[in-house]
Amino acid sequence: MCGIIGIASSKLVAQNIIHSLKKLEYRGYDSAGIATIVDNEIHEKKCTGRVDNLEKLLFKNPSKGSLGIGHVRWATHGIPSQLNAHPHSSDEVSVVHNGIIENSTLLKKNLEEKGYKFKSQTDTEVITFLLTDFLKSYDLVDAINKTLKALNGSFALGILFKKYSNIVVGARRGSPLAVGYGPEENYLGSDSYALKSMTNKITYLDDGDVCILTNNKIEFYNSENKKINKKILTLSEDKQFTDKGDYKDFMSKEINEQNITAKTCVKEYVDQLRKDINLYNFPINPKDIEKIVLIGCGTAYHSCITAKYWFEELTNIPIEIDIASEFRYRKINFNNKNLYVFVSQSGETADTYAALDLCKKNNVKTCSIINVVESSIARSSDFVLPIHAGPEIGVASTKAFIGQMLVLFILAIKISEIRKEINKTDYENKIDDLQKLPDLIKDTINYCQDNTPIIAKDFIKAKGSMFLGRGLSFPIALEGALKLKELSYLHAEGYPAGEMKHGPLALIEEGLPVVILAPKDRYFEKTISNMQEVIARGGKVILITDEDNKIISENVRFTLKIAKTNEYLSPFLMTIPLQLLAYHVAALKNCDIDKPRNLAKSVTVE
Ligand code: AGP
Repeated sequence: MCGIIGIASSKLVAQNIIHSLKKLEYRGYDSAGIATIVDNEIHEKKCTGRVDNLEKLLFKNPSKGSLGIGHVRWATHGIPSQLNAHPHSSDEVSVVHNGIIENSTLLKKNLEEKGYKFKSQTDTEVITFLLTDFLKSYDLVDAINKTLKALNGSFALGILFKKYSNIVVGARRGSPLAVGYGPEENYLGSDSYALKSMTNKITYLDDGDVCILTNNKIEFYNSENKKINKKILTLSEDKQFTDKGDYKDFMSKEINEQNITAKTCVKEYVDQLRKDINLYNFPINPKDIEKIVLIGCGTAYHSCITAKYWFEELTNIPIEIDIASEFRYRKINFNNKNLYVFVSQSGETADTYAALDLCKKNNVKTCSIINVVESSIARSSDFVLPIHAGPEIGVASTKAFIGQMLVLFILAIKISEIRKEINKTDYENKIDDLQKLPDLIKDTINYCQDNTPIIAKDFIKAKGSMFLGRGLSFPIALEGALKLKELSYLHAEGYPAGEMKHGPLALIEEGLPVVILAPKDRYFEKTISNMQEVIARGGKVILITDEDNKIISENVRFTLKIAKTNEYLSPFLMTIPLQLLAYHVAALKNCDIDKPRNLAKSVTVE
C-alpha cells in the first residue's frame, strides 16, 4: 500500500507534495515524509502519524527545493516510527517505495558486509544502498537497472539523486505508478487522483517501466532498457466526488450517494426504451461459457457471493467463487471455456491483480468489474465493466459494494437472456425493477439514517456481535460484520443463519447483539426460527426485515422495517442499515471513520 509522490519543477515543490500526500492518505497513514534537493544536497523530513504532522513540521522548518519526493506509509517491514518512515536516504540517493522487497534480508546482509549501516527495519533501505553502491561503478541508467534486477517482489519507486540533481526517477513492478505532465513541471504519483489538482494529462507506467522526469521532459524506458513512448490520457473531471461537501466524513457522503451510484450504473447499462441491457463484445460467447469463476477480496468478495446466488438462479452455468489470495496459489484447472471475473473497487489490489495475471498466463478469458477504469486490473482484462461509482475515498467500501453487486446482477440477467434461460417477460420485469432501485435505496438511507444511531449504543458495551442471514442475505451478513469490525474495532461474526447450531450458537449469551437479516423471501420462516433460537438464549435481536407482521417482532429489541422489493434485489437494501450501524458505532467510539487503524484503501501488497 503506501502512497508515492514526486515532482520535478522550477518552483518550490514542498507545498504541492504535502497537498498530494493528503490525497494519498487513503493508501496508508501511519507515517509520512518528504525529501527535496537543495544546493545539491538531499534534505529529508519525516514523522509518525498523518500528513498533518508533516505539514506542521514543514511549517516550523520549511523544505526548500524544486525537486522532491513524498510518501505516506502503511507499515509492512518494521513498526510505524520516524526511522521507518520514508524516504530512506543515503548521501547519494533518496527513495520512496510502495510494495514489498521479498529478498530484502539477503540483500541487507550483503550490503552490511560491504559496510553499509542500516538505520531502519524496512525492506526499502536496501534499495537506497543498492543504488548508492551501483552508482560508484555505473552511470545512472545502468545503476538503476542493476538495482531493479536485484530486487524480488513488488515495487513502485520514486528516487532523487544528489549527483543528478535535476531529475526524479520513477520505476514500477507490480505496484501502480502514474506520471503527470504539468506546465513547466512533471509529476509521479501512486494514482492519478493525487495528481489531479496539478494536471489532467496522465500516463501509467507498465510493469518493468522506468521514467526519468525533469521539469520539462519525461523519458520512458521498458524492462529491456529500450527508450519507449507512452500514450498520454486526459482525465475526466469528477470534483463532486472528491469533495466532502457538507458531510462530516467521506463515508457518510458515500453512503448517501448510493442511490446516485445505482442510478448512474442503471443508466449506463440499461436501455429502458428497448428494455434491454447494453452489454456486447463478451470475450466468450455467453452461450459457450462452461463455468464462471468470481474472484475478489474483502467487500468485493462479498459481492461475488451475492452474484453466485443470482447466476445460479438465472442461468444454468456452474459458478465458483474464490478469494483472490487463495486462488492465486492453488492448483487450478484452467479452461478456456470458463469466464474468470475479477471484482475490485480500486483495480489495484495485489492479490486480485496476481490472480488475474495467473489467468492471463493460462490464456483464459477475463472480465473485470472495477471502479477505477484506469487501474492495472482494468487495463489487463479482456472485458471491463465499470461500476460508475465515482471515486470512493472512505477506506470502508460502501457505494462501490452497491455498484459491484449491481453490475454483477446486470451481467447475470444479460448472460441469462443471451443463453435464453430467462423468458422475455421475466427479463423485462427485472429491467423495470432496476429502474426503481435507486429510489428504494434513497428511501432506505433516509429511514435508516434516523433509526440506526440508537441501535448503535447496544454494540459499544457488548463483547461482540453476530450478523445472520440466509440465501442472498448471507453475504450481506458477512459484509455487515466486516463493516463493523473495520470501522469500530469491535469483534463481529457473519454467518449463514442455518449454520448457528453447528457451533456459533455457543457464543450467544445474555445481551449479545445479534442482527438478523430476514427479508420476506423463500428462507423467511427458517430465518425467523433461527432468530427465536437466539432470543431463547438471551441474544438482543436487531431484526431487519421488509415484512409487516408485528408478531415476528415480539421479544425483538429493535426492528428496522425497510422497503419491500423483489427477493433478488433485497441485498441492495439490506446492506444500507448495516453500513449505517457500523458507521454510528464507530462514531460513538470516536474512531477515525474514513481511515480505520491498520487499514488502507488500496491494498497493493500481498
Ligand atoms: C472493505 O470495506 C474493505 N476496506 C476491503 O475489504 C476491500 O473491499 C478489499 O480490500 C478489496 O479492495 P478492492 O475492491 O479495491 O479490490
